[in-house]
Amino acid sequence: MQVLQIPLSRTNLNTPRHLQLCLPGDLAGLAHQVIGRCDQAASFTEEPGKITRTFLSQPMRGLHEQLTTWMHGAGMTVHLDAAGNLIGRYAGSDANHPVLLIGSHLDSVPDAGKYDGVLGVLLGVAAVQALGGRRLPFGIDVIAFSEEEGVRFRAPFLGSRAICGQFDFGLLNRLDAHGISMSEAFRDFGLDAERIAEAAYPIGRIGGYLEGHIEQGPVLDDLGVSVGVVTAIAGQSKLWMEFRGRAGHSGTLPMAGRRDALAAAAELVLEIERLALETPELRATVGALSVEPGAVNVVPGAARLCVDVRHAHDEIRTAAVAQIHDRALRLAARRAVELKLVEEEHHRAVPADPHFRTVLGAAVTATGQPLHQLPSGAGHDAAVLASVAPWAMLFVRSPGGVSHSPDERVFEGDVQVALDIVVRFLEMLAGAGPFANGDSRSSDCLGAS
Ligand code: HGY
Ligand code: MN
Ligand code: MN
Repeated sequence: MQVLQIPLSRTNLNTPRHLQLCLPGDLAGLAHQVIGRCDQAASFTEEPGKITRTFLSQPMRGLHEQLTTWMHGAGMTVHLDAAGNLIGRYAGSDANHPVLLIGSHLDSVPDAGKYDGVLGVLLGVAAVQALGGRRLPFGIDVIAFSEEEGVRFRAPFLGSRAICGQFDFGLLNRLDAHGISMSEAFRDFGLDAERIAEAAYPIGRIGGYLEGHIEQGPVLDDLGVSVGVVTAIAGQSKLWMEFRGRAGHSGTLPMAGRRDALAAAAELVLEIERLALETPELRATVGALSVEPGAVNVVPGAARLCVDVRHAHDEIRTAAVAQIHDRALRLAARRAVELKLVEEEHHRAVPADPHFRTVLGAAVTATGQPLHQLPSGAGHDAAVLASVAPWAMLFVRSPGGVSHSPDERVFEGDVQVALDIVVRFLEMLAGAGPFANGDSRSSDCLGAS
């Protein structure tokens, strides 16, 4: 796999004196523009008053149109690939050089915040603007992945998997909550699911991937630092379980001998919480639970839940999964309810590429920021891109550590710091010479709006 092989020796880990980056004023202007664009992006939603934008939804089409305008304004060509990823292309001076992908996802969880995913895409657009028309040896593809959260079809990372040639075509039959199949969703979006394989980059074409993303946790905020370099993305397991007992009349059925499926599920939820509290750095969450028949005067006959288990070390995560399964089996037997493990999904922990991580760390230091490195408890498309290219992630502070919530925030000053770092990362990767004749320090750095 040919990657962006620029030996560390040639990579300028200190931005050489003659490299004139965008003036702070330009970066401040671009950061302000990024914040404003995150506000605009939030208006593309399936739920007025909330931010909900799922895979191949109508609001996603609207945001694609807006993002296309912004990408064109940054001097990029734009195309929608067969998997619904929107890609802004900024050519390099050497067309044969592997390209650098910069981006994140455009889809959201229900009732989301403004920055999860979108910020990383808009940081990529702003970094291209900051180059002020200068060409690096490699091309830059700013990529807006179509589906990272997995909300609509319970299948995450669809866009990045397609880019890496790993799309699971068996998922096309999956139905969403309205009974629409994934292949119908592709068709309704104007795409042909039969052509998804065309979204894959040729092997070796992707020289590397950089993702900017909010931390979504409290670490950087507690430390009082603007940014952090990700060391690894935690492994994650998802277990869909179903308890099946016996429905009955809530007023006539004695408590003794009930086979209450929801009571069994509730006991498991608390057991899972206790296990996670007892296991350092383990995160285990039941975020989804459904009850049948769901009437107030009926003892629940069935209950379905999904357990989300995360840890930076795979052996600890897999041991926890085994314990959860074992405890579920035991409590189901004691309560005389059936337990079915409907589906499970496991993703290994993924360490960041050492070279890219060193260069990104040097870019952080070059801006005068303290270098803090941390693992990511959240999953990201970078974990998928890791299978085909070196990757690095830059976290931006989440004030209050809140995410997957309308209370998600960022500081504009932190976005400016992150943008400065991304531009320096590009410069260092490129080992590039000076900006062309220095006049790109003018407002060109802002590029067209
Ligand atoms: O679940 C995650 O960690 C990510 O937000 N998709
Ligand atoms: Mn998310
Ligand atoms: Mn995200």
